[in-house]
Amino acid sequence: MSKEIFYPNKELLGDAAINSMEQYRELVKKADEDYEGFWSDLAKEKIDWFKPFDRVLNEDDAPFYKWFEGGQLNVAYQCVGRHLKDKKNKAAIIFEGDNGDQRTLTYRELYYEVNRTANLFRNKFDIKKGDRVVLYMPMIPEAAITMLACAKLGAIHSVVFGGFSAEALRDRIIDAEAKLVVTADGAFRKGKPYMLKPVVDKALEEGCDCVKAVCVVERNKEPIHWERGRDYSYLQMIENESVKCEPEMVDSEHPLFLLYTSGSTGKPKGVQHSSAGYILWAQTTMEYVFDLKDNDTYWCTADVGWITGHTYIVYGPLAAGATTVMFEGVPTFPDAGRCWSMVEEYQINQFYTAPTAIRLLHKMGTDEPYKYDLSSLRVLGTVGEPIDPDAWKWYYEAVGSSKCSIVDTYWQTETGGHMISPLPGATPIKPGCATFALPGIKAEIIEEDGTPTPVGEKGFMCITKPWPSMIRNIWNDPERFKKAYFGDCKKDGKPVYFTGDGAMMDEDGYITITGRTDDVINVSGHRMGTAEVEAAINNHENVAAVAVVGKPHDIKGEGIFAYIVLKSVPSSKDDDVADMLETMKEINALIKKEIGAIALCDDMAFVPDLPKTRSGKIMRRILRSLVKGEEITQDISTLEDPSIVKTIEDILKKV
Ligand code: WT7
Repeated sequence: MSKEIFYPNKELLGDAAINSMEQYRELVKKADEDYEGFWSDLAKEKIDWFKPFDRVLNEDDAPFYKWFEGGQLNVAYQCVGRHLKDKKNKAAIIFEGDNGDQRTLTYRELYYEVNRTANLFRNKFDIKKGDRVVLYMPMIPEAAITMLACAKLGAIHSVVFGGFSAEALRDRIIDAEAKLVVTADGAFRKGKPYMLKPVVDKALEEGCDCVKAVCVVERNKEPIHWERGRDYSYLQMIENESVKCEPEMVDSEHPLFLLYTSGSTGKPKGVQHSSAGYILWAQTTMEYVFDLKDNDTYWCTADVGWITGHTYIVYGPLAAGATTVMFEGVPTFPDAGRCWSMVEEYQINQFYTAPTAIRLLHKMGTDEPYKYDLSSLRVLGTVGEPIDPDAWKWYYEAVGSSKCSIVDTYWQTETGGHMISPLPGATPIKPGCATFALPGIKAEIIEEDGTPTPVGEKGFMCITKPWPSMIRNIWNDPERFKKAYFGDCKKDGKPVYFTGDGAMMDEDGYITITGRTDDVINVSGHRMGTAEVEAAINNHENVAAVAVVGKPHDIKGEGIFAYIVLKSVPSSKDDDVADMLETMKEINALIKKEIGAIALCDDMAFVPDLPKTRSGKIMRRILRSLVKGEEITQDISTLEDPSIVKTIEDILKKV
């Protein structure tokens, strides 16, 4: 890693929300000296309360922390309604379709659409406060509109990423006991229509009695199956609904949404977020980390199916009264200049994407950014995984003309918003480094017992004080919530939140995230649980055992690699290769069916056995080292059969 430090460009970012390290340290000090006072002031300043809160933080039932008790609000009002006072005709959402079609919704128009949709949900589908609504949506304005319509009614949405399969969608619908599913016929990608509704049809074939209706937004107008009495056309019905709708007041802690994410074991967890704490931090980080100004146009390329899409396409930008760009397509279509042409077209001021996209765009079009006028850019953001020096340098020089600040934002589905990130007008940046915890966030690198990890060594990345936007629970599974997040590390004898990541601090206090310490793989900035992929592979009739690990990948960061033990191995040499290839195809087809294409294995190795301890525990650490071609330094004498390590090594040389 280069030792070079990059200072904020004062001409460009001199009047940033936080524009010096002194100001940053003052805020940190304020939070240190009076934690509740810090959050109370922020909550009073940022949120339009219908009823003020009377308690800042309730720790009685830790780790089920409660924030801003007694307070009442409505998140849709916070994001849209309240902006009618001074931003009626300001663009709220600018949409660009895959084929280049454009649509802009002002705050006034968005307000009407959200109200009509909320009325439709309430009147036609009987959606009430606390009901769950699953959204299986493409990247179109209706995704944001339906999320906000749920918030308007106090209904709890659960957005399922459009790349998940029918089985994965079904699991999430059933776990959340959703009453309504909102989807689209499909949408467009790379110039062609793709379909979503057939996936919903398949998901609903079994076990989804909770679902009373499916509301379909027509986007690509391809023919679809309409189930009588269950499926309804959004566009036909929405016309008749009134543009007036009273917001449902909710308590601060009322769940705003669930979002399913992978863990190291078992099935995906329904991460439950709150209303007040979540929206407070979504809005505040928009202002701190992206230095959002009133005339700015901001673009985050994520999908609404992930937390980044929730917090930094919909809730954060809108709560902050920003203009947020939504893009249906992919960054490489029609060519690798698509993003840069959009930056020029909309005069984007903040551009937020994932390192995997930067690596791809760099590789496919090193000189593309120079063909466009990107002078509107001030802040460039990354999220999802550490950014490597090559990608960083290109992003900084080619995209940011060596004048923009790059904010490497570290956070998770569970944290709701940014935890560790540079502040674009203040922080001297070391590339590849998420730098410092944001004011109010107590991020510490510690050992299991709470002792601080020495400088330059790897420790556990923990957040040692509760914060407003933190996960509140795992839907239907409070025990798993406690164990998964508060079961590993303690400080002063009290369980503290462990992120699952390792991290290291340097002599200047800069934090570098070193990656997951558990069995979670980071594929293109998305979390994949090894257990889930293994469960899918185990469904194959000829698979006896399987272990999945992450393998470094040029573009994706990590790819999925499976070690597979077959029940019967082809005997004749001639059939060998063809049989193996066939089995590999079948296995990937199973993964696609159970989870979705995002979990496909890049590579597999058929091995005679896995390295196991005498008690039968698979030694994944060895498998991870083997696939990286690392020398095995750990003691393998405890293995049931130590010779298997050499055998696997030889097989990998041939893969
Ligand atoms: C995991 C969270 C947060 C939205 C996208 C992914 C990794 C995230 C960074 C970063 C290094 C990062 C961590 C984390 N991660 N941001 N800036 N530097 N690693 O959300 O699916 O909840 O995954 O992504 O490993 O735990 P997610």
